[in-house]
Amino acid sequence: MQESVVITKAVYLASAVRKDQYPEVRRPEVAFIGRSNVGKSSLINSLTRIRRLAHVSSKPGKTQTINFYELLLRVDGGEERHPVHLVDLPGYGYAKAARDSRQTWAKFIEEYFLTSEHLRFVCLLLDIRHLPMASDLRMFSWLVEKDIPVLVVATKADKLGKNARRTQIAAMRRALGVPELTILPYASPKSEGRSELLDVMKDNLIE
Ligand code: GTP
Ligand code: MG
Repeated sequence: MQESVVITKAVYLASAVRKDQYPEVRRPEVAFIGRSNVGKSSLINSLTRIRRLAHVSSKPGKTQTINFYELLLRVDGGEERHPVHLVDLPGYGYAKAARDSRQTWAKFIEEYFLTSEHLRFVCLLLDIRHLPMASDLRMFSWLVEKDIPVLVVATKADKLGKNARRTQIAAMRRALGVPELTILPYASPKSEGRSELLDVMKDNLIE
């Protein structure tokens, strides 16, 4: 069966800590947010199938800047190539980060969210093995409060068996306080969840 969304090109565009460093030409975009080490950069690599597009590390705090990537999407076998942007954000909740750097984090991420007219939705990544922590709950309610559409993605799904996944996802929904919430399980090593995420991108990023 032909995939409904095909990425025909994926390139790194820019890294930024301030608005004037954002790419000049903006496209409809999706941002990836979550605790340090939750798997944001890995998900971008698995989605684009380019192994080292985003930098991954086993140590938390790897991504320190807002990184923009441009993708061209072909939809339903059509001729047109739709440019969209993926935005990899630095993780929060890294215990070892100095207080100062945590405050800087909040500032420049907030600036990004509050000035991004092209942002169509945010993927909030949560490790499937843990219930959302206070910082995740704060992030979730903040996004909801700001009317920014959120897709919750449960990362590292390969670490749990099928039944444990189901139980854990139900517990995550309860913890977030939204019983009907869609939570997409994702496993970067095998790109599980990839076509589902591409479908969400197609529905939300393509005009
Ligand atoms: P920061 O940039 O520090 O905020 O982290 P990040 O959220 O970008 O995490 P990153 O993608 O760098 O991954 C952190 C660690 O988790 C790495 O060792 C990855 O190999 C591992 N990892 C990420 N996703 C998965 C996954 O789906 N399954 C498994 N088993 N490991 C994963
Ligand atoms: Mg990262």
